[in-house]
Amino acid sequence: MKHLNSIRMITFALILFSFLAGCSNDTEQTSAKAEENEPQPILVQGPMPIEAENFAGRLDNVEEEQSGNFVFYKGTVNDYPVIVMKTGKGMENTAAATAISIEKYAPAAIINQGTSGGHDPDLHVFDIVLGERTVNLGSLKTGHLEDGEGIAPKEWIPMDLMASEGSAGEDPDAENIRYFKGDQELLAAAKAVKDTHEEGKVVEGTIGSADVWNNEVDRIQWFHENFGSSVEEMEGAAGAQIAKAYDTPYLGIRILSNNKTNDGEYNPDTAEANQDYVYEVVKQYISTKAE
Ligand code: 5AD
Repeated sequence: MKHLNSIRMITFALILFSFLAGCSNDTEQTSAKAEENEPQPILVQGPMPIEAENFAGRLDNVEEEQSGNFVFYKGTVNDYPVIVMKTGKGMENTAAATAISIEKYAPAAIINQGTSGGHDPDLHVFDIVLGERTVNLGSLKTGHLEDGEGIAPKEWIPMDLMASEGSAGEDPDAENIRYFKGDQELLAAAKAVKDTHEEGKVVEGTIGSADVWNNEVDRIQWFHENFGSSVEEMEGAAGAQIAKAYDTPYLGIRILSNNKTNDGEYNPDTAEANQDYVYEVVKQYISTKAE
């Protein structure tokens, strides 16, 4: 009798468990469906506080989230979800922040924006470069020189770390420049609102990135001639590489805050002017998404 009772108890427990498991499955499926219906957010990255907080201040319904050093301002623009991220400066911060944000928020598109230094003497402080392509200016291989033969930076050659899974140092196929292309739809939206930026011109160009601030004009010219760089900064190519890995549309938008090639003195007010322009780009992109 005792034996029978415990069998009944176990059977009841099993039925109850499978019923509860079924319920929680249903709830999971319902919330997954709700998420599917949500439009995917547009992500706007800015490295320094002056490069992110102005845009964050324009969002409606803002909630702040943090992951490591990275701050996410989740809000809306014209009722569409937009997340502004303060990534911190440099390639490592940007790569990590980009990966985390894609995993967390599955964005429809990413705009990486901020200040930069001019490589092109025709560009002036307050001009804006749309990253038709982005390139890592720190991916280099030096020539072969022996003990006491010195260093020859002008002989350094580009190195493409994405060329293969083998050794980039030995692979001749890796001796190429790797350009990351800007997303065409984002570019189209940015071009459509060029006129809203009144403090300077807006051009398409090549954004070069590395954890380096170049002040040697000959070196700047060397990059300009060999890599075609219009400007340099410290983030764009890192974000572009990760966005490409996840197949997420990406565009760099950089204002010149300085230009050594034409005596353009550093002006921090450019950071705000760039965010004003990027705000217009985001609104334009949202309106084309709605169509
Ligand atoms: N060289 C490198 N980075 C620059 N930045 C602005 N101007 C330059 C420049 N001439 C940006 C970088 C980084 C911070 C130091 O400012 O992207 O976030």
